[in-house]
Amino acid sequence: MIIKPKFRGFICTTSHPVGCAHSVQEQINYVKRQKPIQGPKNVLVIGASTGYGLASRIVATFGSGASTLGVFLEKPASNGNTATAGWYNTAAFEAAATEAGYYAKSINGDAFSDQVKEQTIALIKEELGQIDLVVYSIAAPRRTHPVSGETFTSVIKPIGDSFTSKTVDMNSNEIVDVTLEPASEQEIRSTVAVMGGEDWERWIHLLKEADVLAPGATTISYSYIGPKITYPIYKEGTIGRAKDHLYTTSKEINKHIENINGRAFVAVNKALVTQASAAIPVVPLYLMLLARVLGKKGLDENCIEQMYRLLASRLYNTENSPNEDHLIRIDDYEMQNDVQAEVSALWEKVCIGEIDIVQDLEKYRKEFFKLFGFGFDDVHYEEDVKEDVSILSIKS
Ligand code: NAI
Repeated sequence: MIIKPKFRGFICTTSHPVGCAHSVQEQINYVKRQKPIQGPKNVLVIGASTGYGLASRIVATFGSGASTLGVFLEKPASNGNTATAGWYNTAAFEAAATEAGYYAKSINGDAFSDQVKEQTIALIKEELGQIDLVVYSIAAPRRTHPVSGETFTSVIKPIGDSFTSKTVDMNSNEIVDVTLEPASEQEIRSTVAVMGGEDWERWIHLLKEADVLAPGATTISYSYIGPKITYPIYKEGTIGRAKDHLYTTSKEINKHIENINGRAFVAVNKALVTQASAAIPVVPLYLMLLARVLGKKGLDENCIEQMYRLLASRLYNTENSPNEDHLIRIDDYEMQNDVQAEVSALWEKVCIGEIDIVQDLEKYRKEFFKLFGFGFDDVHYEEDVKEDVSILSIKS
C-alpha cells in the first residue's frame, strides 16, 4: 500500500508505519546520546503510545535501562485502513527495545476500565513483580466510569464568559476569529471526570492493593499552565479545571502511598504539537509563535527532550529533587519572561495582521504530520509498504 496523509478536521486519518518507526528511532537515538539516568527499573506507562507518554517510555528504557509495560488505546490496520500512529510507534518501540535486550510489553485497551487495570496487574505480578514508576499520560475525549457506567465527554471550553480569539484554520491555513461559548456545569463536570485525577487515583489504589507498587515507588502525571493569552481556553477553562483536580488528586495519592515511601507528582510540561494539543482551539497559533521564539534562542524542545530533562534533572536527580509541593515545572524555558514577552509582542502583531506567519504555519504543519509518520526526509513515501504491522507482545 502507498500511504498518503489524509487530513480531516484536526486529525490525520492515515499513518505511515515506516515514518512512525523513523520518528521513534530518532527519539531513541536522542536518549542514547545523553548521559544514562540512575532512574526507575520497572515502569508502567498509561498512555504510552504517542506524545509525552511514548517519550517517557523511551527515556525510561534507553536512558535508565528500565523494563516497561505500556497501556494505550490504538487501532491495528484493518480493511485497507492503516493502523493508528500509536500502534506503529509501539510496534517500532517494542522491536527496538527487545532487540536491545529490554523487557517491553503492551496492553491495548481502555485504561479507564477496571478490566484493563486487572489485566495490567496480573501481567506485573507474573512478569515484573513490582513497579517503581507509574507514568499517567492519558489524553482522551471520553471516559466510561467503571462503577456507575456513566460516559463522560470532555470539552475544551471557557468557563463563565464566551471567549473570542485569533486561531489558525488548519484547513484553509488562514488566521480567523473563533468564539467559544462557555461550558455548562455538566460539561465542566464531565471534563473533570475524563481529564481530572479520578482515574489516576483508581490506578494507584488498585496497584497498591495488589501489592505491585515497590517501596519508594514514584507516580507522575502531566499538566499544563501556559501564558495569559491561552488562560481563557486552558488554565481558566474546562481543561484547566480538570488539571486543578489532577493536582489536588496528587496530594491524595501522596498520602495514600506514604506508608510505602511513595511519591506522587504533577509535572507541568511545555506546550507541544501532539494529537491532543492540535484539538485545542487557539493553542496551535500560540505554539507556532512559541516555536519561533524558542528556536531563535536555542531553547526549543520536543517531547523527548522534555521527558529526558524531567527524569534526568528533576525526578531522579538527588541534587535537584522536587520540593514538597510536588509540582515540577519543566515548562521553565517556555515561561521565561523574555520568551513570553516576545511571544506576546508577536501575538499582538498577528492579531492586527502585521506579521506574516507563513513559515511558522509550514513548520507547524510539518511537526503535525510527523506525528503520523509523514514528512521525514529519509522515508520513501512513494514505496509500497505493508500497513499490517504487528506489535510483538500485544494483549487486548
Ligand atoms: P497524546 O494524544 O499524544 O497521547 C495520549 C495517549 O493516551 C495515547 O497513548 C493514547 O493511546 C492514550 N489514550 C487515550 N485514551 C485512552 C484510553 N481510553 N485508554 C488507554 N489509553 C488511552 O497526548 P499528549 O499531548 O502526550 O498528552 C498526555 C498528557 O500530557 C495529557 O495529560 C496532557 O494534558 C498533558 N500535556 C500535554 C501538553 C501538550 O502540549 N501536548 C502540555 C502539557 C501537558
